[in-house]
Order: sequence, then C-alpha cells, then structure tokens
Amino acid sequence: MCGIVGYIGNKQAYPILINGLKRLEYRGYDSAGIAIFNGDLNVYKKQGKVQELVNFTKSKNTQGTIGIGHTRWATHGEPNDTNAHPHVSGNGRLTLIHNGIIENYALLKEALKKEGHTFQSETDTEVLVHLIEELQTRENLKIEEAVRVALSKVIGAYAIVVIDREDPDKLVAARKASPLVVGIGEDEFFVASDPTPIAEFTQKVVFLNDEEIAVVTRDGDLQIKSIENEIQNPFIQELDIKIEEMEKGDFEHYMLKEIYEQPKTVADCMRGRVNAAEGWIKVGGVDTCKDRIFNANRFIIAACGTSWHAGLIGEYLFEELARIPVEVEYASELRYRNPIINEKDVVIALSQSGETADTLAALEMAKSKGALCYGIVNNVGSSIARLTHAGSYIHAGPEIGVASTKAFTGQVTLLSMMAIHLGYERGTIPRSYYLQLLEELENIPNKIDRLLKNAQKQIEFIAGEIKDAPNALYLGRGYNFPIALEGALKLKEISYIHAEGYPAAEMKHGPIALIDENMPVIVIATNKSAYEKIVSNIQEVKARKGKVIAIVKEGDSIIREIADYTIEIPDTDEPLTPLLSVIPLQLLSYHIALMRGCNVDQPRNLAKSVTVE
Ligand code: G6P
Repeated sequence: MCGIVGYIGNKQAYPILINGLKRLEYRGYDSAGIAIFNGDLNVYKKQGKVQELVNFTKSKNTQGTIGIGHTRWATHGEPNDTNAHPHVSGNGRLTLIHNGIIENYALLKEALKKEGHTFQSETDTEVLVHLIEELQTRENLKIEEAVRVALSKVIGAYAIVVIDREDPDKLVAARKASPLVVGIGEDEFFVASDPTPIAEFTQKVVFLNDEEIAVVTRDGDLQIKSIENEIQNPFIQELDIKIEEMEKGDFEHYMLKEIYEQPKTVADCMRGRVNAAEGWIKVGGVDTCKDRIFNANRFIIAACGTSWHAGLIGEYLFEELARIPVEVEYASELRYRNPIINEKDVVIALSQSGETADTLAALEMAKSKGALCYGIVNNVGSSIARLTHAGSYIHAGPEIGVASTKAFTGQVTLLSMMAIHLGYERGTIPRSYYLQLLEELENIPNKIDRLLKNAQKQIEFIAGEIKDAPNALYLGRGYNFPIALEGALKLKEISYIHAEGYPAAEMKHGPIALIDENMPVIVIATNKSAYEKIVSNIQEVKARKGKVIAIVKEGDSIIREIADYTIEIPDTDEPLTPLLSVIPLQLLSYHIALMRGCNVDQPRNLAKSVTVE
C-alpha cells in the first residue's frame, strides 16, 4: 500500500527512483511522484502509472543526487496530480512522502489552519508536512527533531521520508506500523518500503522498528533514534534477493511467471526440511518451541485474503493429521473482538508480505494475552517475522503479481509439513502413512510441473468458453473447499467477474437458485473421500443446465461423462491435493483476465501489501 523510495549518494537519483517505483508499483498504482534536490527542489507528480510520470518528466530537469519517490494507493483524496506525493510544506522548504494513514489529520489540519496554513490537497500527508514545518519554524528545530516532535503528535500509521532544502545533505525517514527499510551502499543510502528497489545496489539493510527515526547523510552517516529521542543500535542484515527473481524474464506477466515458478518454489520451501528416503521432516521454527507447540490446547490461524484460504487448509491438515483443534480467523475480525486467548494457545499468522496491518495487529493482541506467536511468512525481515516468537519462511522469492499464487502454495506446503511433523511426533499418524506423505510431498513439485505442461491448452480453451460470463460459482468439498474459495477470489481479483466459492453441499442452500445455462460452475472434484457426493453435486448442477468445469484426477472417466469440460490433475494423497488443485484455477483466472483485456498484474483498486486497516 503506497511504495516509498529514497536515495542519497553520488549517483543520479532519477533512474534509481524511477526503477525503484516500478519495482514498488505492485503496492499502489493510482499516481506517482518524485522530488529531486539539485540546488533547487524539483517536484513532479502524475496521476496514473509510473510510466505516466516517466513520460511527464522526459522534458524536465531531473538532475540531482538526492531524491524521494512515491507510488500511491489512495486513502484520503481521489487519485489525481494534486493528491499524489511528494507533498511540499507551505513555505516550500520540506518535501515528504508517506505510506499509512494519519488518523487525527482533521484535528491537526484545523489547528494548522488557525496558524495560517493553507492546503492544496485533500490528503492527510499534506497535513503532516505542514505540521513538521510549523514545529520547525516555531521552535527553530533541525529537520530530524521537527519530524520527531511532529510524529509524537500523530495518531495512525506512517512510513515517511523527508527532505529539507535548507539541510539538503540528509534524508530523514521514520516508521510506525508501515514498513521501511534502509539500504546501506558504498557512500550511498537507500530508503524504501521493501528491499526490492534496493537489492540491485546493496544487500546490506536495516529494517526500521516502529517509532524509529533514521537519518542518513551524504557523508555516510546512519543514525537511528526512537521517537523518545533515544539512540538505537542499527541491526544490519544481509539480504539474499536475486535480481532475476524480481524480473519478469520471458513471461508476459509476473503472475504467469509466478504460477510457472511453483514447481521450484514448492521445492525451495521443502529444501533441507524433508527427506523421505531417510524418513525425516524438520521445521526449524517448530523445534525452537517444541513443548508449547506440541502441548498447545489449540491453534488459532490469523490471516487475510489468499493467506486466509491457506489458513483454512491448515485447519483441515492440523485437525486430521495432528488432532490439534484449530480456529481460522480473519485477522481484521480477531483483532477487534475480545477473543479468549491464553498462553496454552498458539497463534499462527500467515502472510506473504509479513506487513498486513490487520494480521500484525491481531498478532500483537495475541502476544499480549500470552499466546505463542508463530509466523509463516515470505518476506524476510518483515514486521510479522520480527514480531513472532518463532516461525518459518516459505522461501517463495519476491511475489510481485498482486494476485497471490506461489506464496499460497508455499504457505500450504509449510502447513502440510508442520501438520505431518506434528502428527508423527504426537503419534496421531502411523509411521507408514507418515513416510508415504513425505514421499508424496517430495513428488509434488514434479506433479505441478506435469500439470502445468499438460493442462495449459485445455485451460486456455475453457477460459475462452466462459470469459464473458458475468458470474461464476466454485464448489469443493473437504480440502477442496478452501480451493473453491481461492479459485473464486483469483477470478474476482483479476478479471472482475463476480465469483463465489462454496462448500459443494451448501450449494443447495442458496446458490443453486442462481444456476442456469449462463452460469459456469467450477467443481473441484479430486476427492477420494465423498467422491460420490461430489458427483451428485455435479449432477444437480447439470440438471439445472449449469455449465460444469470439473477439476478431476487423471483418468476420471465418470465425471468426464457428465461435466462439460474437465481438467485433469495428477493424483496424490488427499491432504496434499490443494497443492495441485489450485494450479488450474490460477491459470484459468489468468487466461480469462487476459482475454478480457484486464491488467493482470495490477488489478484495479487492489494493492499487494495492505498496510492500512
Ligand atoms: C492483499 C493481496 C492478497 C493477499 C492479502 C493478504 O489483499 O492482494 O493477495 O492475500 O493482501 O496479504 P499477506 O501479505 O498478509 O499475505
């Protein structure tokens, strides 16, 4: 949600900022802007994609070795040139970019108006830069001190970077509940919402903590203070991000690349953690707090969006294999309830970004109630990864497409490993089944690969057949019910077709009324248990002239007879089915979106990392 990038050093800032914004564009893409200092401060802002800004700045002066850039996902004020960031203070001295929401902006704005401030935009951000200006001028403060005092008056979430034209050899950055990372190069510094704009220059970074203010200077100084004015020791980390992981390569879209990466990313998630031949499985994070996890009264899984769907599969996995009771919660609901959570609970936060505001807040609440907090996260060093007592990375590499694909299968792989591990150690699955599951887990990457090769043409064809439908229904039972939800979400997100996921049997309690010859019904029918039941559900849809697209196991001739179209996936053990059955649904939504002319990687109104509530 909003992407931030800043640079100070010896290089020209413009290309670094623009390329950085392109890398960050998945965080928000309704407008973009840059400010570059070169004796004078040049600020350029444009509604639309970063490319619009590039076109706009072609004839402009973009010289300078210090600058900031922003790509916006609007909260306060519609997306237009004026509301785009950077925002400039009334006296023209300060320029600021911001990700987050200043909740008390209205009160602050009123007070500032009384002091004579006038505002150009409708944003909360402009209020913040005026507040800093007011304090700086009134008290004659250095910029970092004015920022610190201003932030102590602010309620809400922020990641900001500020340039002071009277003190132009430094960037001042601060964060609270919105991510910010400082990159340390040779005689240069970078500041960004996440490491993607930084990784090609340096892998040495410091992730700022909440309520910390960083000052980086041209002469190579990095100083971090708390908002209480205490000096903090920067914790410098080495990243391991490869540039090619952030590029589209030969693929037309990031989403397609990420779908096709899944044989590798699932294998990467298991690397060093599973060995079927030797009969072991290791999930490091679990072992660090074995007692509390093994003896937990229950697991509570908190997540949002696609990660929540992965969590639902976790419920089926942990309950079936490890016999541990599980509740799966929307983080946004959990945090505002008064839930009964105690030290016998384990709260598992699932998050690709590790920055989702609601998931983070739910976790903080659970931590304060004494629960053990476990993170299953993709982004290394992210806020959730740092907040939890223990956790596991899914190692999917940067996921850029807004619609999550490889992170989902990574999360499900990790949850499967945990459930198998716990099931075996707790004695709830026999060794023979344990070994069989390990072997099957190791086979999954090859099976995904086979599926991607074999099903591609058929999926494209089916996409063409149903692309104009206004609605679609996704049905599944057991492990495939969360997959029905995920399939429907993928279609909604990127093709703007209204779609609903339902437990197949629940169809009779409502959605059946919608079925007619115009309604594609995608049935995920790979189940071994309750196979006959799902066949009956398909018959019920056909009896009402619905168009059935069935995802089936290879060689299923029964459903092939009754469904309009079938997509075959390799057979596997039932608990691992989701890792395969989701793949055709990802591809189906991709091709439908493409055929409908939608922007697959940057669907309207969505942002990849939702760092506001
Ligand atoms: C947004 C993204 C989804 C993602 C969800 C949760 O809605 O568009 O793809 O599933 O946030 O994000 P997280 O990073 O916590 O998994």
